[in-house]
Amino acid sequence: MRKLFCKDIKNIYLNKKIILYGWIQNKIIFKNFIVIILRDNSGTIKLNILKENFKLYILNIIYNLNIESCIKIIGLVFLNSKHIIEINVKKFFLISKSDKLPIDINNKNISEKNKLKFRYLYLRRSNILNNLKIKSKIIWYINYFMNKNKYIYIETPILSKPTLEGANNFLIRNYLKNKYMALSQSPQIFKQMLMISGVNKYYQLAKCFRNEDLRKDRQPEFTQLDIESSFVNEDYIINLSNKLICFLFKKILNIDVKNNILEINYNKSIEMYGSEKPDLRNPLKIYNLVNILIENNFYIENNHDFIYIIPIKNNIDIKNNYNYILNYFKDIKCYIVNKFKFNEEILKIKINFINNFNINIIKNIFINSIENYNYSFFIVFISSYDCIFNIGKFIKNLSIKLNLINKKVYSLLWIKYFPMFVKKNNNYECVHHPFTSPKFFNKNIDIIKDPDKIISNSYDLIINGVEIASGSVRINNQILQRKVFNILNISKKDQNKNFGFFLNSLKYGTPPHSGIAFGLDRLIMVMKNIDNIKDVIAFPKSSSFYDFITE
Ligand code: AMO
Repeated sequence: MRKLFCKDIKNIYLNKKIILYGWIQNKIIFKNFIVIILRDNSGTIKLNILKENFKLYILNIIYNLNIESCIKIIGLVFLNSKHIIEINVKKFFLISKSDKLPIDINNKNISEKNKLKFRYLYLRRSNILNNLKIKSKIIWYINYFMNKNKYIYIETPILSKPTLEGANNFLIRNYLKNKYMALSQSPQIFKQMLMISGVNKYYQLAKCFRNEDLRKDRQPEFTQLDIESSFVNEDYIINLSNKLICFLFKKILNIDVKNNILEINYNKSIEMYGSEKPDLRNPLKIYNLVNILIENNFYIENNHDFIYIIPIKNNIDIKNNYNYILNYFKDIKCYIVNKFKFNEEILKIKINFINNFNINIIKNIFINSIENYNYSFFIVFISSYDCIFNIGKFIKNLSIKLNLINKKVYSLLWIKYFPMFVKKNNNYECVHHPFTSPKFFNKNIDIIKDPDKIISNSYDLIINGVEIASGSVRINNQILQRKVFNILNISKKDQNKNFGFFLNSLKYGTPPHSGIAFGLDRLIMVMKNIDNIKDVIAFPKSSSFYDFITE
């Protein structure tokens, strides 16, 4: 049983005898003594082994030891000439020697395969253990917060039916019955049934399994903080989430986050940032000149053409990136315009849909509409509305390429009211999941006749451009739920076969209910500015979806 760790050895132990256990991080042999850097899970300390104090056979053992061997020492604590604490080793015990390491764990460029194949070694020296400690701490605070708010922790099945969460399922075969079950993509349906059961406030740290392409913020198994409450609307869930986020930022990072995190409607977010998960730290912003002109009472003859403009500040060097930018938009007309040439021919020719336009007036209106004047260039796109999404991706990529994001601050915002459906290959799919309630801003719109016009009562929390949490108000009546399934082209037969149990449960006095799920791994990623989700998971899968760890 260890009583002391490297980080505990402070001045109060000076001249005292202590016992430490750990791994040899480094070993240097001098003429009269040997220095070992001892590491345990708390930190490191320098050990001095005076050769004259040890028998030759022990010294021989030490000479031959590889780094990362596990040892125990008894020694005296002293201050060196620079007033740093070191240990003068009196007794040395070898606990377990290490073979020569198959990877250089000090090297920052270890391949992904080796990071996983020798995970147990990589974890010894990388920052990942720190990240796992933070995860453990966050879980503690989440449990504290949810309990304080009277939520109860309930486990839901991992083996169940597919739930239409958007990804493919992992199937598990029951060999005795020769039947298949799916690994749960999320507790969605079960948490809703808990609301029907009369559970008022539910939460769970749920393992979720999704069979989808992996990215740097996606793993096939990950953890959600899953929340559901009955008799509450979207404002309640957003408010609760804001309090939770403020609490975690304060406890983990000692950062004060404003309790009323900014909320933006989906349409506005697409219009302003070309993305449903904008990073507000990005200084590159998109301006829609057509909208600015309409706001200034210009008459626009034809609204099929759109002009998007990205002003480039004086201190941003885009001259060296002209080709990158123009290449990026091979398919869209893109021009880089010097501020002083804003009224040059190119714009005159292209802005052809404005009646009686005067380029100088346009220029003034535009310049007055942006925040300040210290711009040197404008990137101008003349295209259709849809290209806004490409431009959104472009400003994100350019900001990364030019290192424009201030990583010391955090960007938090809610995107609300997504479209309910999106059409893919002539079929409707849900933008969130099919249990999300429509938000009936306009009572005259018929969901069956006008699926395209339906807005969902949904909300996503975006931190630093990453979707951290997603939730919605739920459908709480069977008829509406069936309508949504109909729009998704799920036959009545399949509705009954796959969701009959759930559709039935909606018939017995379902309370209104709403909820949300946070991606726990992603939350830690963004809070600690970690680039890849694998670094917050002890044993992740590789990007090519191979389990190098167990092979
Ligand atoms: P959604 O599918 O948006 O919603 O997931 C919620 C949050 O989980 C995280 N997440 C992931 N993290 C890592 N790897 C993945 N493959 C992965 N997929 C999702 C994200 C995401 O915001 N049942 C609904 C929630 C609800 O409506 O209450 C759901 O699962 O951070």
